[in-house]
Amino acid sequence: MEKIGGNFEGKSILSLDQFDRESIDLVFQHAGCMGEMVQKCMPSEILTGNIVSCLILEPSTRTHFSFLSAVKRLGGGTISVTDIDPPKVSSCDFEKMVLDAAACSDIIVIRHSEIGSAARTAEISQGIPVINAGDGAGEHPTQTLLDLSTIHNRFKRLDELTGVICGDLTYGRTVHSLISGLSVYKRNKLYLLSPDKLKLAREDILSYKDRGIDLIEIKGEDQIPKDAHFWYWVRLQKERFSDKSEYAEVNRDFVSRFAVTRNMLKRHGNKDMILMCPLPRVGVILPEVDDDPRSVYFGQQIQNGVYVRMALMTLVLGKERGLV
Ligand code: NCD
Repeated sequence: MEKIGGNFEGKSILSLDQFDRESIDLVFQHAGCMGEMVQKCMPSEILTGNIVSCLILEPSTRTHFSFLSAVKRLGGGTISVTDIDPPKVSSCDFEKMVLDAAACSDIIVIRHSEIGSAARTAEISQGIPVINAGDGAGEHPTQTLLDLSTIHNRFKRLDELTGVICGDLTYGRTVHSLISGLSVYKRNKLYLLSPDKLKLAREDILSYKDRGIDLIEIKGEDQIPKDAHFWYWVRLQKERFSDKSEYAEVNRDFVSRFAVTRNMLKRHGNKDMILMCPLPRVGVILPEVDDDPRSVYFGQQIQNGVYVRMALMTLVLGKERGLV
């Protein structure tokens, strides 16, 4: 996939494969400015006159709120579609909806149940940039930018890190994008923990490894390394299972073996690490650890999500002049 190479203007944001170090740095620099602006309650007119369409065709609370908040913080307007069931929409109607959105707005944000749906949207959007807010079990690039920014804020680097990623590695789009994002950097090592049925696909492991990231599959909590910088837990993606009783069974087993508890953190964690989750954390992280100072999912990750999306939309619309 063609790299952004530090020039975002007019481009669709579909996958972490588009990102190089320079482009991620640029997002972080601008996200830093956005954070200062928000914390000082400074009104902004960066997106005044712009409209962002949010085609949120799968359930979403945080991501949807975060995009709406990001646009409004920048003085822009939003329109949303939320109640359409994509598999029930014919491809012709889908195309018409995208064309309507393109005619009415300057950016289209799309979440959809099919892998590749954001790329398809970009092909028919008449040059209006598209931002992938989750394409089925594919990718979720803006989540990864906020995850990387949270890790970077904590450790001041994205090289030479050790992480543990646990949960649904087959269908977890946030995981796919995060591994791809961390493989842009050097000497990162990730331990992968998942139910046998929900491992990262073998061909994905090989292709990520080719990019230089070290991936180590582990089988149980006893193999979690003591020196991890971050733990990233993701729920089993119930909506991707055609057999819901199979989901219930795998999830029961998963929760009993791998859910983060106070005890697990005490046994295998360390004092400097952070505990991350793209949310919802249903079952995979127990509420008893929510107020542990290492838990960053309800605070920093959500905040960074707004700043990163503000930065990204500013860059995509070419409105960043004079900001950093
Ligand atoms: C994630 C998603 O939808 O992919 N959540 C999110 O965007 N906040 C992860 C998940 O649903 O488990």
